[in-house]
Amino acid sequence: MDRASIRATTAPSSSASSNGAAIGYNYSETFDDDSDYASGFDSYPSSLVSSETHTCSRSLNGRRYLSRRQVRDPSPGRACSGTVDYSFPHDEEEEVRLDLIHRVWTLALEGKMFKAPITGPLNKILDVGTGTGLWAIDVAEYITPSPPPPPPFFPLRMESPILGSLDDPNQLLTYERRYPDAHVFGTDIAPSKLSWAPPNLDMQLEDIEEDWVFPENSFDLIHIRSMAGFVTDWPRLLAQSLTALKPGGYLEFHDFSSPFECEDGSLAPSSTLTLWVKTWEEGAVLSGRSWITVGPGMPAMMRAVGFEGVVSEEFKVCTTGAKPRDVRLREMSMCMLRQFLDGAEGITLDMFIRVLGWDKKDVEDLVAKVRRELLNPDVNTFTRGHIVYGQKPLW
Ligand SMILES: C[S@@+](CC[C@H](N)C(=O)[O-])C[C@H]1O[C@@H](n2cnc3c(N)ncnc32)[C@H](O)[C@@H]1O
Repeated sequence: MDRASIRATTAPSSSASSNGAAIGYNYSETFDDDSDYASGFDSYPSSLVSSETHTCSRSLNGRRYLSRRQVRDPSPGRACSGTVDYSFPHDEEEEVRLDLIHRVWTLALEGKMFKAPITGPLNKILDVGTGTGLWAIDVAEYITPSPPPPPPFFPLRMESPILGSLDDPNQLLTYERRYPDAHVFGTDIAPSKLSWAPPNLDMQLEDIEEDWVFPENSFDLIHIRSMAGFVTDWPRLLAQSLTALKPGGYLEFHDFSSPFECEDGSLAPSSTLTLWVKTWEEGAVLSGRSWITVGPGMPAMMRAVGFEGVVSEEFKVCTTGAKPRDVRLREMSMCMLRQFLDGAEGITLDMFIRVLGWDKKDVEDLVAKVRRELLNPDVNTFTRGHIVYGQKPLW
């Protein structure tokens, strides 16, 4: 079953479903700013600002972007880090792109949710920047077909020599906890759109660059995926993860570093793909983030804040050009290409216009060229995936 199908297109409801949990999140307001993209949300009257983190959305070329504004919180010890924007969209098209990336990771890890060698019980799991929440849902539970009904006296099931077993499309599916004792928390700056979630999953609105609300020594596993390029202070984030983990608990990081690596010289240094990535990275740095160095740089950063036994693994996903014959690698490759083709405009518009000051028409031209190059069968590129995990010392 496609996990994405359980996601609602509307705002979350507070009512619990019969076999699932209501989605709860703490207070936030969402404002629309369709009037003037460039003015951002600075124009909102100060009466709308309270001690909470406020999220505001604005649209550009029909895509919806979300910003967050932090204001000084009067509670002691809670920091204020000013105004920060998230440059990828928060809309249904972006959800599809994130689902494709989730599929790439599921295939890369061959169905495993993490690689940390956790042997004891998993009681509390945190997914930082959970997005559509697919990882959090999948780690909370998995789906199995219900046991087949007893065979009828005259068999009604037919076997087709071509199609194999003609399974009943209405077959019931059952949901089972992947880790019987685990309670999962997913945090994000955007409200969850899930209308239903496993009973052992809670979605929480949190800005993970602020002081964490979770108690010390509480998690067995913290998972951070696809956050490269969006975090201004990695050492602080890693330090807060270390504090929130139980002694012996693991932090696991899944991310891609620079896309479009090329080993056979088929990608010209002057290509639009190269320019696109280089310029996006400049925008990330301008807005106080770093993207490219995070994947390879993560093990050293984790060791520096105190993680032990840090392990780093890599894999490659073909992005453009020749596709692998292996079915799994081929699907990974197709999903990667598809999410770039469909997602190129969304992941470019805000960064190039708001941060880098490009003209909208120039961005549209760039995206059109990017799409053309993505489909060039003669350019063989790959994207490098990184899996890095490390343990909080036992004492
Ligand atoms: C590229 S998406 C990845 C989503 C998810 N981890 C996945 O792998 O599917 C990045 C997510 O991080 C969230 N995010 C960005 N900055 C954040 C912050 N400071 N605190 C919490 N979430 C944040 C965004 O809202 C977005 O949902």
